Amino acid sequence: MNEAPRLIALVPCAGSGARAGAQRPKQYQPLAGRMLVQHTLAALAAVGRISRVLVVVAPDDATLDAQPGVEAAHCGGATRAESVFNGLVHLRASGAADTEWVLVHDAARCLVTPALVDALIDACLESDEGGLLALPLPDTLKVVQGGRAVRTMARDGKWLAQTPQMFRLGHLHAALQAHAAGGFAGITDEASAMELAGCQPLLVRGGALNLKVTYPEDFAVAQALLLARQQ
Ligand code: CTP
Ligand code: MG
Repeated sequence: MNEAPRLIALVPCAGSGARAGAQRPKQYQPLAGRMLVQHTLAALAAVGRISRVLVVVAPDDATLDAQPGVEAAHCGGATRAESVFNGLVHLRASGAADTEWVLVHDAARCLVTPALVDALIDACLESDEGGLLALPLPDTLKVVQGGRAVRTMARDGKWLAQTPQMFRLGHLHAALQAHAAGGFAGITDEASAMELAGCQPLLVRGGALNLKVTYPEDFAVAQALLLARQQ
């Protein structure tokens, strides 16, 4: 009998957090008793089926070198897509097979729950297709020019992409490699590269609370939610 393909988590953690405006990269800000990224890593560790967690950090960043249960790869790039691509190159060089599944999950998305990750894994394994957590657009979408609304777009069929995003290692590596020479322009998530490669990733409903800490006010929201969960 064939063994089930392995599931690997790849966590891009090499950003500077410019929009968050904090003193240090947002993923290392203290939040509810530990660093923000440690909440993210704890949620992934609680998913029993994930066999390896690779955190992609900046080349000179030793913050997670001694973090139990994770492997820090010092190959972060200039963009999120480049960090993910470099992480995939690292996985392949260290013996991971192209048939293995990779779950790419933002370090900054510290409110993800094991249940959400499990739902994505179940859907992708059952359909044998790559996919992502996403949320139907809750608000009315405006097209803006010069600070004024010029048009309102139909909300139907529009979803907000979250992470994890789960694809076969070989497929995702090839899809991203096609954009390496162009500096990964326009590639803001894994699914966008897969779509351009002709795939139609599966959308699995995520949650409004699986937010990405991005702006200064997001820290307080994330902390309140994490503390509430610890009750
Ligand atoms: N990321 C990365 N390498 C980069 C840029 C981003 O690994 N060159 C990671 C971030 O650390 C984060 C995730 O990708 O966990 C999502 O990116 P984002 O929220 O945009 O984080 P930053 O790029 O750090 O923030 P900003 O865009 O505000 O500078
Ligand atoms: Mg960014």
